[in-house]
Amino acid sequence: MQVRSAVIPAAGLGTRFLPATKAVPKELFPIGDQPAIQVVIDEALGAGIDHIVVVSSRAKPAIDAYFAPDEALLAALDDKGKHDTAERLRAIGRDWRVSIVYQDNPKGLGHAVGCAHEAVGDEPFAVLLPDELMGSSALLAQMNGVCASTGGSVVAVVEVQPHEVSSYGVIDPSGPLSDDGVIPVRDLVEKPPMDEAPSNFILTGRYVLTADAWSEIAALQPGRGGELQLTDALRAQASRAPFHGVVADIGRYDTGNPLGFLTASIELGLASPELGGPLRRFLSDLQT
Ligand code: G1P
Repeated sequence: MQVRSAVIPAAGLGTRFLPATKAVPKELFPIGDQPAIQVVIDEALGAGIDHIVVVSSRAKPAIDAYFAPDEALLAALDDKGKHDTAERLRAIGRDWRVSIVYQDNPKGLGHAVGCAHEAVGDEPFAVLLPDELMGSSALLAQMNGVCASTGGSVVAVVEVQPHEVSSYGVIDPSGPLSDDGVIPVRDLVEKPPMDEAPSNFILTGRYVLTADAWSEIAALQPGRGGELQLTDALRAQASRAPFHGVVADIGRYDTGNPLGFLTASIELGLASPELGGPLRRFLSDLQT
């Protein structure tokens, strides 16, 4: 079954980007002329998803404003003959649906995702963490296919150096990696100390989950850091049903901190048809 809904947790305070995030949510920071959240939405749409559920906070009204129609702005653009720009704005949420739900208390990623249950309904769904941007929809589309063929949940993984594992969720593989990058998973652990990590494959912010994840999320108890951890809901799934990782071998950009955001902007700018040429020339002039 094709997953129809994608949950994008976007309620965080963005403390690593203060003071910039004091007034502007980091999900709206520009990548070229797009807010970062639109890059994530486009990835989901490219994988066949048509319902976006943003988990926001009432302290971030600018996120609501991005999705709300603005007839006065559209009329002003049309008056100026800027029909292409007006058309891009009209397209926001036109061929796909957006639901905004609110997480009033930051209790962890598991809690944030759980806030989307009613909007998604009891069906499989994707979760896309907007701190990571992907160069294409290929990974999510492959994960969706693995979920459909195995009937179990799927997480994106990437292999990192041992000293990095303690900042992430880590999988415990139950078999080898296949030629197409799929690895069976028997358990997961959130942010283990390096010497207790079951592998070097970390969770990298993309999930395709079967509907029973909702009851596991609802039953979560505080885990690592006292938070309700999504990883703990997944370990319950992995203990009783097929569960797989798919290795992310596409471009992947961590925008969770200012340097990562800057480098992601440059890499995605280089890949852009409009900005790529001039940006490449600017960068090579800098080096000479
Ligand atoms: C979250 C997840 C973690 C995952 C990471 C990916 O952690 O809890 O399992 O590996 O995202 O970015 P956070 O970065 O919110 O601490």
